[in-house]
Amino acid sequence: MRDAGCGQVEASWSGREVRVIGWVHRRRDLGGLFFVDLRDRTGLLQLSFGPDWSDAAGLELVAELNPEDVVQATGVVAPRPEPNPDMLTGEIEIRVSSLRRVSVSDALPILVYQPPDEELPSEELRLRHRILDLRRPEMQRNLRLRHVATNAVRASLTEQGFVEIETPLLTRQTPEGARDYLVPSRVHRGRFFALPQSPQLYKQLLMCGGFDRYFQIAKCLRDEDLRADRQPEFTQIDVEMAFVEQDDVFRAAEKMFARIWRDGLERDLSVPFRRLPHAEAMERYGTDKPDLRIPWEIRDFTDALTGIGFGIFDGAARAGGRVRGLVLPGGAALSRSRIAHYDKLAQEAGAKGALWLKRTADGWSGPPAKLVGEEVAGMLDAEFGVGEGDLVFFVAGGDAESSPALDRLRRAAARELGAVDESGEAWLWITEFPLYHRDPDTGLPVPAQHAFTMPADPDPERLREDPLSVNAVADDIVYNGIEFASGSIRCHLPEVQRVILEATGLTPEEVEARFGFLLEAFRYGVPPHGGFAVGMDRVVAEMVGCASIRDVIAFPKTAAARGLLERSPSSVTPAELEELGISVTGGTGGDGA
Ligand code: AMO
Repeated sequence: MRDAGCGQVEASWSGREVRVIGWVHRRRDLGGLFFVDLRDRTGLLQLSFGPDWSDAAGLELVAELNPEDVVQATGVVAPRPEPNPDMLTGEIEIRVSSLRRVSVSDALPILVYQPPDEELPSEELRLRHRILDLRRPEMQRNLRLRHVATNAVRASLTEQGFVEIETPLLTRQTPEGARDYLVPSRVHRGRFFALPQSPQLYKQLLMCGGFDRYFQIAKCLRDEDLRADRQPEFTQIDVEMAFVEQDDVFRAAEKMFARIWRDGLERDLSVPFRRLPHAEAMERYGTDKPDLRIPWEIRDFTDALTGIGFGIFDGAARAGGRVRGLVLPGGAALSRSRIAHYDKLAQEAGAKGALWLKRTADGWSGPPAKLVGEEVAGMLDAEFGVGEGDLVFFVAGGDAESSPALDRLRRAAARELGAVDESGEAWLWITEFPLYHRDPDTGLPVPAQHAFTMPADPDPERLREDPLSVNAVADDIVYNGIEFASGSIRCHLPEVQRVILEATGLTPEEVEARFGFLLEAFRYGVPPHGGFAVGMDRVVAEMVGCASIRDVIAFPKTAAARGLLERSPSSVTPAELEELGISVTGGTGGDGA
């Protein structure tokens, strides 16, 4: 149907006749002289219907063309009298000799040709009319880059000796901390498959099955509360290796990321990535995913500031807490109302609030200012680097409250004060995660990552008695403050694995019923193994610079976990329910969106 894509027609073809086909991107009428920008995935091409356009019926057709009609045109390539340097094919046009309207477009619910400076339609409209949205150059670029990244993953891992293997979607529960999507079985009434939250157990079974390097571009399904960087259905680059230690896993992942960055962004990554133990990350940045493009670190002011007579500081220390704070270079420029805003942020993050202290040419100000004598001032200057023009935020209390608050302040204030090095990239491994954290509701230990991780100290006695004190051989990759990947060395010791699962509150019988197949696989010679999984959507979103992973997924769900285009989830007929042996109580019964 075409000799070339619109963006592929070259100036050197001048004088040649070509046939092209595409969408009407824009039509201009300069008093009887018509121009149409024709678009396909390769770019834009100007069609001109000048005075030599002889076909009167055709001219009428041109006058009637709608945006997004599909038209086929034949004509001669000619230099443009006035080249457009912003357009790939801006030096030429096609002087059309014949035109065929292949498909007519209705009036558009959202624009594909987005005039510069005009805001995008709401995301709801974009998702409802996703096929039009996908035609926009940004979405075309995003999904194409995703393809390049996927190819780079396959190339790098294949070169490193990995084999791509598919694992089942209809399976049983694989706990990754979210709820399962369940699929009723018609053949086995009353029984359900679970869709995998990740291929975690299968990839470990593949190691037992003798494949020592596996990968999969895997769909994972999690029924969890959604956020901008989460989808109920998302893609992982899932990797597992046998006969390895943590360093081997790190090297494989770093090599893969270097290849993605080279092929996708033409940038060389500096590997190995920096490593930071979890406890240190929490102490210095208040989070297990610090953005190291921000140079500020949390400092402990407890010794310096208790005993100066400030009740809140003394009270926190007496209760076993600490006074931690952040020095904001240049922060004295923040107004009272901005400071109040940060105080509120700290409260939203769970702390009692953020106290402040400013140092200007006029001296100290802020709630504890009166108590800052010469000695304390000297210490703040010498030990903590508080100079003229700086501001300090203090959060007093237990670490569980102050860490999230200081993390939040650090990120928000750094953005406001321009302290984020936007030109840089900060990659790091967070290592030595705790094996468990305590569920605030049940009080039970919950696996910090998942229950199949090797404890740093695999002593069953200690796991039984003091599980929360044990670290895991687990790690995350953090990029500019975003968790890109998670991995670990797995527990291949059946008895220890049993204890890890039981510590989460499962009875021995439940462990056997749910994970007996894994424990059995560990009884026939199990290779020590480990691996990781990368959140592909997040990685591509960062590569293209999009705030939302929905912009790098062709057909994503909304924040309320609905498909607006196909209107899912939908109701099913009573007959279908009957066949599955299911009766529905409650619910809206409506047909989704
Ligand atoms: P984890 O649950 O940490 O680990 O997932 C790995 C990575 O997947 C991404 N991710 C998500 N992306 C979009 N939407 C979601 N709902 C979502 N949930 C997670 C994140 C995360 O770092 N089996 C283990 C990995 C392993 O141990 O090998 C796992 O699934 O970027």
